[in-house]
Amino acid sequence: MNRRFFSQLVALGAGSLGLWQARARADHELAQAPADGTRLAGVPPNPQRLEPVNVADFQELAKAALPPATYDYITTGSTDEVTLRDNVAAFQRLRLLPPLLTGVADVDTATTVLKQPIALPILLAPVAGQSLYHPQGALASARAAAKAKTILGVSSSVGHSVEEVAAASSGPKWFQLYMPKDRAVARRLVERAERSGFKAIVLTVDLGERKDADKRNRFTLPEPVLRKHLSDIGFNVSERMTYEQLLAFNDQAWDLTLSWNAFDWLRSITKLPLLVKGVLRPDDAKKAVALGLDGIVVSNHGGRRLDGVPASIDQLPQIVAAVNGKVEVLLDSGVRRGTDVLKALALGAKAVLIGRPYAWALAADGEAGVSKILELLREELVSAMWRAVVRTSPVLNSRW
Ligand SMILES: Cc1cc2nc3c(=O)[nH]c(=O)nc-3n(C[C@H](O)[C@H](O)[C@H](O)COP(=O)(O)O)c2cc1C
Repeated sequence: MNRRFFSQLVALGAGSLGLWQARARADHELAQAPADGTRLAGVPPNPQRLEPVNVADFQELAKAALPPATYDYITTGSTDEVTLRDNVAAFQRLRLLPPLLTGVADVDTATTVLKQPIALPILLAPVAGQSLYHPQGALASARAAAKAKTILGVSSSVGHSVEEVAAASSGPKWFQLYMPKDRAVARRLVERAERSGFKAIVLTVDLGERKDADKRNRFTLPEPVLRKHLSDIGFNVSERMTYEQLLAFNDQAWDLTLSWNAFDWLRSITKLPLLVKGVLRPDDAKKAVALGLDGIVVSNHGGRRLDGVPASIDQLPQIVAAVNGKVEVLLDSGVRRGTDVLKALALGAKAVLIGRPYAWALAADGEAGVSKILELLREELVSAMWRAVVRTSPVLNSRW
């Protein structure tokens, strides 16, 4: 990246424009530029060169692109954000200690997750509200994930229906369920995901967001987005319901009192593999094994739930030891660099998921942004594996 061009975009305040919007505007203005090639004031000389090189650059671009309340919704964490900060700090505290002169000639990032072959051990986590970040929302994420040959976790609250996201790409997708109180609605939703070709159901069990920034900003879904969301889930919301009625309906529609029985019920209605997302304790991980679940996502929801819980990466080794290879263990929360991916794999995760990094990239540049962030993390991972690969980690599929 040419850093000067990148900071120009932000400093010029390409304003509240995203990269995709800034490019469109710059293209339009360049098309109207004087024929002698002199530049219009304020137009970067070559907008195609505005290339972010890491997650932090995309965060900066997303900040410039989004209304502040939407940017805060993506970026902030619960209450004092202790866990949010620790997620990143815990990765940074970990040190790599590579053996010397191992003769590594080539590295291969391909792996499998729940028997699904993927080209890199970085999945897109379920992230709500994507149509607020970019007009194409989850459709763009689905296309980028398919091109990168990885799995997209599709949130129950993503902004498009399961059928719409399924139609956007043929790549592998998991459906992340927030459990509706009405089990008939939940059942139909899971059946629709199965019919649409989703490969697994992820039940997220760490519930209840409490973010000061969202309260301060009075962040809520705009009426059309909320209406579409509720009807995409399969709730019977009539056209005549007011915005206040929709908000009140949404407040009481979800089951926040789940127990492990939820998995027995899910097992009775679907043949798809089941994962539990939000595990931080070894005893909970053992319960997941005892229930015959197919996967565990070690996660604190990116520091968006109960503040003060430990960083996921700090819990990973105990959980990997507790399950003793009986179930696949994935991890999210705080992954910002290829070296973070390597650390998680070296500590026993089969793969990681990213949340904010691709939400920021989607806001900055739609599908191209999501593709780019996956490519940047892939490059960083390859570089880290090549220089610091841990011989004993079979999941890396390294060739020696
Ligand atoms: C804006 C946003 C919305 C999210 N929505 C959901 C969701 O609907 N369901 C879910 O299980 N997790 C959701 N998550 C949590 C992510 O799946 C993931 O656990 C978390 O983002 C990982 O941390 P990271 O952002 O540090 O990568 C959301 C995260 C963000 C940033």
